[in-house]
Amino acid sequence: MSAPILRKLADLRTLTTDWHRKDEVIAVVPTMGALHQGHLSLVEAAKAGCDRVIVTIFVNPKQFNNAEDLANYPRTELKDAEKLAAYGIDAIYVPDPDEIYPKGFATTVSVAGLTNVMEGEFRPGHFDGVATVVAKLFLQTQADRAYFGEKDYQQLMVVRRMARDLDIPIEVIGCPTVREPSGLAMSSRNQRLSADGLQVAAEKHRIMRALADALKDGAPFDALAVQAQTDLLTAGFAQVEYVQLRCADTLEPLTHADRPARLFAAAWADGVRLIDNIPV
Ligand code: PAF
Repeated sequence: MSAPILRKLADLRTLTTDWHRKDEVIAVVPTMGALHQGHLSLVEAAKAGCDRVIVTIFVNPKQFNNAEDLANYPRTELKDAEKLAAYGIDAIYVPDPDEIYPKGFATTVSVAGLTNVMEGEFRPGHFDGVATVVAKLFLQTQADRAYFGEKDYQQLMVVRRMARDLDIPIEVIGCPTVREPSGLAMSSRNQRLSADGLQVAAEKHRIMRALADALKDGAPFDALAVQAQTDLLTAGFAQVEYVQLRCADTLEPLTHADRPARLFAAAWADGVRLIDNIPV
């Protein structure tokens, strides 16, 4: 059965207040729509662990540092609702823009440190937009648990820190990246890739895996990273923004994989910016 689509905070609150009164555990899966199997795996995890599941769909203008990217972001609400119908969730919250940013909205939530590198460096202001909207969605949904994909690993860390620092009573749960059979991490942006672009994009995971394997054998990161950048360009990527090895807990840069680490890469193919990360 299809879940109700709610556009007003007051309507959402009517539901969540009732659910809390009955001591039900509420999950939120925040999304910007254009749902794919990666999002649906979060919905599955939420369904398995909670009594009530809310999926939010809001293309958040404040997290786009590029107007073209915002304009091109796929908006597929009807299809998204159809996909969600199979999961028996309890509400789809598609807030009217002024439910999130009412006239005169003047607050920014900004997480220091974690946001200075990688996505924060290449997309100025991006994480302020993410932290601000996610704080609002946490408070609006009054959820007990929130589910995020590890595909956006840095985002997951930022959101976790934000919730902890602001004492928002919510558990932030990270779920593994879902991949195409080619290894390409699922992303709403993949919809914008041509057939050739998809082939190029899939090479990223292969190159990252090879680098991760070499790191496991004890090789130092720096030379491997230079080679990986060359390999990405040879595979057809137009531009590589970064290939970095960082501590999985703190995101500090590492020269060797001598503790739980994560390998991150961001590169452009077919005019689309693609990010990925894998555990090492
Ligand atoms: O990962 C996303 O889709 C977005 O950054 C999020 C968490 C829904 C905030 O707009």
